[in-house]
Amino acid sequence: ATTLGAAAAEKGRYFGAAVAAGKLSDNTYVTILNREFNSVTPENEMKWDATEPSRGSFNFANADRIVNHARSRGMSVRGHTLAWHSQQPGWAQALSGSSLRSAMVNHITQVATHFRGQIHSWDVVNEAFADGGSGARRDSNLQRTGNDWIEVAFRAARAADPGAKLCYNDYNTDGINAKSTAIYNMVVDFKNRGVPIDYVGFQSHLTNSVPADYQANLQRFANLGVDVQITELDIAGANQAAVYGSVTRSCLAVARCTGITVWGIRDTDYWRVGQNSLLFDGAGNKKPAYTAVLDAL
Ligand code: XIL
Repeated sequence: ATTLGAAAAEKGRYFGAAVAAGKLSDNTYVTILNREFNSVTPENEMKWDATEPSRGSFNFANADRIVNHARSRGMSVRGHTLAWHSQQPGWAQALSGSSLRSAMVNHITQVATHFRGQIHSWDVVNEAFADGGSGARRDSNLQRTGNDWIEVAFRAARAADPGAKLCYNDYNTDGINAKSTAIYNMVVDFKNRGVPIDYVGFQSHLTNSVPADYQANLQRFANLGVDVQITELDIAGANQAAVYGSVTRSCLAVARCTGITVWGIRDTDYWRVGQNSLLFDGAGNKKPAYTAVLDAL
């Protein structure tokens, strides 16, 4: 195959990109999107601040544009993200305790209901664990509503959109470390107690190298009976092409690694300007990193 999406599909996987609604009128951008990718993740348009800017008043216009663009072209959609400490509207940031908890549940229910049947997998909860060696939950307003907020979020998402796969998504979880092990233990616990979870997403924002135990880490999660996805891949640094190839091979080597999403299309689309972390240059040309991925697929 000669495109990322078609090559991934031959291996039973998808290859996706984070997409911004504001770029759907950019010809170069859309040409690459439509040619190369068969999955999309709205980069910001499904986040809490975008979808519920004031309490109880929902705005799905930009997210709908992306979903409609994708689905009318046969691409699947990852929903990102229902519950997260970041990019909350001001009104939610000002809540706490049971009122924040009920606002979170209502938000998840409304958003997942709006998109019911259209989403391949939801990042139900994003980035809930702390960095470093503690293995603890990240302190956040959501965490302070009670340690059960994650399972409450997953149950609300399942109830609202029963056909969608439900994903826990995080970063700095690419190797076997205290943070990824804490998430691993949560998945074990959820499986034991029947809390719905189908996927673990590994953002994989990388620089120059990938942990030697990357594949082993994906595999240990898969062995728990969840699928795994590489959800926000970007790689900065001089080793970029080689590392992209290595990450791609690791996913293919894990039967339950169902797809890879890169966090943008051209280097100029990337949220952290100047890192040149993506597969296409600013003019839309394929970079060596692109070739490394295609060759690995
Ligand atoms: C980023 C977007 O790319 C930016 O446009 C936005 O300003 C901040 O968020 N982890 C995530 C993504 O889960 O939602 C973040 O996206 C990047 C880090």
